[in-house]
Amino acid sequence: MMLETAIKAAQAAGQIIKDNFQTDTSESYKNSDQVVTKTDLAAEKAIIDIIQTKYPSHSFFSEEAGAINNDSEYTWVIDPLDGTTNFIHHLKFFSVSIALVHKNITQLGVVFSPLTNELFTAQIDKGAQLNNQPIQTSKLENINKAVVFIGRNSLSEKTDDLGSSIFHHTAKNTRTQRILGSAALEICYVACGRFDAQIINNCNFYDAAAGAIIAQQAGATVTNFSGQPWQPPIDGSQNILITNSSLHPQFTSFLKDL
Ligand code: IPD
Ligand code: CA
Ligand code: CA
Repeated sequence: MMLETAIKAAQAAGQIIKDNFQTDTSESYKNSDQVVTKTDLAAEKAIIDIIQTKYPSHSFFSEEAGAINNDSEYTWVIDPLDGTTNFIHHLKFFSVSIALVHKNITQLGVVFSPLTNELFTAQIDKGAQLNNQPIQTSKLENINKAVVFIGRNSLSEKTDDLGSSIFHHTAKNTRTQRILGSAALEICYVACGRFDAQIINNCNFYDAAAGAIIAQQAGATVTNFSGQPWQPPIDGSQNILITNSSLHPQFTSFLKDL
């Protein structure tokens, strides 16, 4: 079964990441801002090897490897280590993120946090789970009490002011904000009700594809800042707003104008 393969791949990558935590010093810059380690690459290889062995005809889009196009209707969308900066700086908040897209519709998502041993899973129309137990978003209805993640696309923030604008407006309208450093994990924390919403300017599809289906299956609403479905191309990005659903109109009322 496809979900089982995704879980197997995420756990294999998670073991590599766990084994290398606090010992990998191979950090290098991909560009002026983004870092990668040997662990990102080893985790990615493990994931692709496991899935390819089972589904050799499928396509892939993975953060470090890019597109592996087999002209399949199925594409596995992978972020082998989401939260590389946390990993390098010995903070335990990072994750492995794997989604499967069929004809533009995400079928399943797996996000695994190896150091806390939390496995978030979802399949279309089958709900979302944390370590096999059903999860749901929070029930909060008042944005003034909301606890919110502000995801950061630092590359975009160097060229526009949207990030600071989001921060400013969210500070005015919510109770408090956090930046955890792993978009996939932040989204899953909204899915299981620990947080009420997450906002990221210009979010890569591979950062949020798995988290988005997990959140939706847990009762969240996932849109762009105007309230339309979040649907960037597989190799693209788009602003993303994820809330517990009740709060969605209150967030779009100020985000749509930023
Ligand atoms: C990063 C994390 C981070 C987000 C960055 C991403 P990476 O992913 O998801 O939370 O703010 O925009 O690039 O590079 O660690 O896979
Ligand atoms: Ca990422
Ligand atoms: Ca990554």
